Amino acid sequence: MDIKSSILVTGGAGYIGSHTAVALVEAGFRVVLLDNLCNSELSAVEGVRSLVNAGRGASVEVPFYEVDCRDREGVSEVFRSELKKGTRITGVIHFAALKAVGESVEKPDLYYDNNIGGTKVLLDVMKEFEVESLVFSSSCTVYGEPKIVPVDENSPFLPSESPYGFTKQECEKLIEEHSKTNDIPKLNSALLRYFNPIGAHPSSLIGESPKGIPNNLVPYLCLSAAGTISPLTVFGTDYPTPDGSCVRDYLHVMDLAEAHVAAIQYLIAKSLSSDLTGSSHTRAFNLGTGSGVSVLEVIAAFEKATGIPVPHVLGKRREGDVVSIWAEASRAKSELQWHATRSLEEALKDAWNWQKKSK
Ligand code: NAD
Ligand code: UFG
Repeated sequence: MDIKSSILVTGGAGYIGSHTAVALVEAGFRVVLLDNLCNSELSAVEGVRSLVNAGRGASVEVPFYEVDCRDREGVSEVFRSELKKGTRITGVIHFAALKAVGESVEKPDLYYDNNIGGTKVLLDVMKEFEVESLVFSSSCTVYGEPKIVPVDENSPFLPSESPYGFTKQECEKLIEEHSKTNDIPKLNSALLRYFNPIGAHPSSLIGESPKGIPNNLVPYLCLSAAGTISPLTVFGTDYPTPDGSCVRDYLHVMDLAEAHVAAIQYLIAKSLSSDLTGSSHTRAFNLGTGSGVSVLEVIAAFEKATGIPVPHVLGKRREGDVVSIWAEASRAKSELQWHATRSLEEALKDAWNWQKKSK
């Protein structure tokens, strides 16, 4: 049988995973999706399938496995099932995690078990099946409240503000440790530290669908603009920033998806260029635009991009918020040949179009 290779996308039914799956197929990769659907719906998998098949003669298969990353036997079975079909998983992009900062404070053990436990199982199974390339979804939350902005990848990990942030720091350390102690098979990994992903696919076939009332700025802002939720509260206007509201680095999820393609290509190249005795390689990359934007500026940019007013009130600070953080993103540019190309307005327009379509 002619063995083909594919990339396993854990959390592939989620927000960033679904956009990345589409970008991978567009770049010529075969993808296999795994998700336990705890924070997503099968409709996202259908959205991915529609997008990758739009305008193509032959149909592109996108296998989906409803499996929990902590289920060792279940994850191994995904690799075995694909082998039986003549497909070898040669790289993994690990998105699957719980990500609600507030919930993580209430249920820290759930976050440790799900996020760190799931990563441990995945590393074991990757070793069993001799998979050498791992892209890990990390976050700028690993930097805590940085002393200097923009932050680069050498900035120290500061005590995390939440159990969620702690799981990202621990998973990064776990992967690094695993790489150091496992040269045969090698583990080459890219630790991608996302800043604030926003927006949706321009087709509006996939986007961000948080369950319940959104905690994050842009999903809340869109519901507020649609009039289906109480006005947006700007959390704090007395911070030491130009307009008093917090500053973040918002990047379009389509740019972020393309960064994953660049990262997996980088790892494959690393694998090919080193011989059997070459040692494992781990590299962290900041993924952001390199520009900081305040909450009030996001509201103004949304109104400009869509012509829709955003009902909002000025409120108190939210506990645990970092004041200002944005990326020093030159490492991704020089080593992955990736940089964000889409504007804030484009991202907000796409988020709004998704909101209108999904209501
Ligand atoms: P998401 O919730 O939309 O996607 C995560 C997916 O993982 C969901 O579909 C969920 O059902 C699945 N999942 C969770 N635990 C699982 C498990 N044990 N087994 C199998 N599937 C499981 O979130 P997202 O925004 O797409 O985030 C993807 C990754 O990026 C996460 O690791 C998140 O921590 C990280 N990240 C996100 C942001 C952000 O602002 N969205 C920022 C930084 C980092
Ligand atoms: N904000 C408001 N009102 C809201 C929601 C948010 O003013 O209703 C403000 C926040 O105070 C913050 C900014 O908008 O200043 C962005 O807040 P988000 O909740 O959208 O994003 P965070 O920067 O707090 O955190 C996000 C993810 C984390 C991730 C981090 C870095 O939620 O999981 O980005 O990637 F770790």
